[in-house]
Amino acid sequence: MVTIAFINQKGGVAKTTSAVEIASRFARSGKRTLCIDADPQANMTYIYGINPDREGQRSLKDVFSKEAEIIDVVQRSAEGPDVVPNNILMSNADRMFVGVNSMTLLRNAIRPVAGSYDVCIIDSPPTLGMINWNVLIAADYAVVPVNANALSIQGLRALSETVAEVREEANPGLRILGLLITRYNPRTKLGREALPDLEMIATRYLDTIVFQSKIRQSVAVEDAQANRMSTASSRRSKIASDYDALFGEIVSELRKKGGSI
Ligand SMILES: Nc1ncnc2c1ncn2[C@@H]1O[C@H](COP(=O)(O)OP(=O)(O)OP(=O)(O)O)[C@@H](O)[C@H]1O
Ligand SMILES: [Mg+2]
Repeated sequence: MVTIAFINQKGGVAKTTSAVEIASRFARSGKRTLCIDADPQANMTYIYGINPDREGQRSLKDVFSKEAEIIDVVQRSAEGPDVVPNNILMSNADRMFVGVNSMTLLRNAIRPVAGSYDVCIIDSPPTLGMINWNVLIAADYAVVPVNANALSIQGLRALSETVAEVREEANPGLRILGLLITRYNPRTKLGREALPDLEMIATRYLDTIVFQSKIRQSVAVEDAQANRMSTASSRRSKIASDYDALFGEIVSELRKKGGSI
């Protein structure tokens, strides 16, 4: 199983959207796909048609508190992937889960299901707290969605420092698969001007690439999400082809790196 986290502490850069779009395409291509919603906002849970607040529903919090295993909480979504739901109860994770092994809870929890899935896609919250340490320690690869603007670029420094610390302390194999430009508008000068900066940061500081496939700004994605699905399952749109191209690129990057996908 290869584990890919969609991560950036900057909010609203399309982490959830991209995680869902890619996970749904893995599932459609026949890969046994596990999605882990590590964000207490539970947007991934919601898009996959699961009610985050259903009474008695077990969630990632029960896994972190060792009251359940992944196989006890996982639910099959209509689109294909199995989903570990989250909900708002996990939002004070930083205080709930403290102690010596608190940073490896997720890695240890997914180990027993590694033989049952080909790919695990993790959606993560817009923070750099204990949840995202867990995510980065559990992941083989990180995909970093960014917007092509100054504030988004500024946030990459903190992320790169965290990735470096995680590598040093707990997960030396962690690699950033690529920076993913989302909500891209090729018609704006600002957007185009941000590209060389992003390329430079990717190569110099993050030892990675900027994916060739950029995701354009489009309302089709919000339409699909309002119907609780990815663009892979809705009416064809520009954004669906952008994510198709990205999916191809992710698979080829994984194969280049020797992944069995
Ligand atoms: N390419 C796009 N074009 C237009 N809207 C988009 C695009 N990608 C994402 N969105 C919309 O932007 C909003 C934020 O996207 P999303 O929730 O995926 O970001 P996020 O990084 O997961 O946010 P958070 O940090 O809160 O978890 C959503 O309403 C989503 O539908
Ligand atoms: Mg999100």
